[in-house]
This record gives sequence, C-alpha cells and structure tokens, in this order.
Amino acid sequence: MPLHKSVRKVTTHVLNAMKLKGEKIAMLTGYDYSIARILDEAEIDVILVGDSASNVMAGYDTTLPITLDNMIYHAASVVRGVKRALVVVDLPFGTYQGNSKEALASSIRIMKETGAHAVKLEGGYQVVESIERILSAGIPVMGHLGLTPQAIHKFGTYVVRAKEEEEARRLMEDAKLLETTGCFAIVLEKIPAKLAEEVTNSVKIPVIGIGAGPKTDGQVLVLHDMLGLTQEFSPRFLRRYLDLHSEIKGAVQAYINDVRAGQFPNEKEQY
Ligand code: KIV
Repeated sequence: MPLHKSVRKVTTHVLNAMKLKGEKIAMLTGYDYSIARILDEAEIDVILVGDSASNVMAGYDTTLPITLDNMIYHAASVVRGVKRALVVVDLPFGTYQGNSKEALASSIRIMKETGAHAVKLEGGYQVVESIERILSAGIPVMGHLGLTPQAIHKFGTYVVRAKEEEEARRLMEDAKLLETTGCFAIVLEKIPAKLAEEVTNSVKIPVIGIGAGPKTDGQVLVLHDMLGLTQEFSPRFLRRYLDLHSEIKGAVQAYINDVRAGQFPNEKEQY
C-alpha cells in the first residue's frame, strides 16, 4: 500500500520514506481553519502556512510586511483544522536573518503558540547559523532556495533563478549545505527543471518544487493561485484547477439579485 494511504499522521520521517519509495509528496499553502479542514480531508501531505499570506490574504505587494504575530494567527487557525497533514510555517522576513537567537525565539513562538510541526526559512549559507540554533531546540526546519521572495528587493524581479552556471553551482552547494546542516526538506522555487532534478538526485532529503519541473520529490502551489482566486498572477508553471474567482462572483451576484428581487429568504427559509 502506498505510504500516503497507510499513515494516519504525516511526519518528517514519512516524507523521507516517501522519497525513498519514490512516492511524490503533495503540498499546498493554507492560511485558515475552514480551508485547512478541506485540504486535510483531501489527504494533502503537507500544508505550508506560507508568508504568501502577505500577498493573498493581506493584499500586500510582497511577502515582506507580514509579521510573526500575523503568521502565528494563520498557523494556529490551520492547525485547529488538521488531523493528518504536516503543518509547516514560514518564518517571516526579519525574524531569523542575521541573528540566530532571534531565529530560535521566533521558531519557539511558532511551535508553542500554534502547535505546528516545523518551520521554513529562505536562504543557504547565510542562514546556516540560524538553522543550527533552531534545530538545537528540536524544531524541524525546511529550507527554501532558488527564487526567495523575501529577497525581492535584492534581485528586483521574480524571474527564473539559477539559469547561469555560477548561480546553479552555488544553489547546488547550498542545497547540500542545508542537507548536512539538518534540514528535513528543501523547497526549490522557479529554477530550471534540469537543475532541480540534479539537486533532487544529489540530496537524500525530500525536495519540493514550485516552478521547478516534474522531477522533484514533490510539488507545492499557492492555494489561491491553483484555485483561481487570484487572477493577475499567471506564471507558466501554474496550473489552475478551478476558476473560483468567477464561481464566487457568480454566487454573490445571484444572492444580490435574489435580495433585490425580494426572493430571498423564501417561505421555507424563515421561522
Ligand atoms: O510562502 C509561500 O507560499 C511559499 C511557497 C511559494 C513555497 O513559500
């Protein structure tokens, strides 16, 4: 029986075993209780409480403004809706870079106040000290390489990363470093599929891709994008499974029409 069918609770060890068995890992972002319940019932393996909440929940242009308190609110809501999935929470911008003690304190707050199972942070060699300190408290860490949206102002654009040999070489080194430091998995965002495949084959920990081709150990998408709630964001890698924007708009318009025509509520919808 495939592992995802036999396990009642997804752990970091289950993800490792899935990689060993060649079973793909399915991960999606989630930010609230009601949606987390649906994702969990559907048997998603990992829910990432991503700092993309800054964009899709709060309406900011970048992931930078979201705070640790905001992330804790979203993560605690998600955890209350989950029985089976592993819940991973993004450390937001400014809560771990350049200060490993702050990284540990931020991670401890997330684990204590939300009940989540792991944290994720962006970067390679620059954040190794922070990762080591977080791991020393027994908190599992997921890495994130390639396009790292918290560094948008350094790069100025969201284009594909590591297309050039030198950047690809550094990304490979960073992936191996994250593995030896003790990360339990790595997200690779928006890099060439061939490089993502090479990284996946070069490390023993699971590699989850977004815009990184089909050969990684698993895939992640931002929920609002794959459900078609967001419309303006249409990168090549995105597959939309629903047009929820139109569905919701249609339902709201039907409700407005019913109210205006005095057709809601009807006789059965009253006391
Ligand atoms: O915040 C997020 O949604 C992410 C995914 C894009 C991996 O980090």
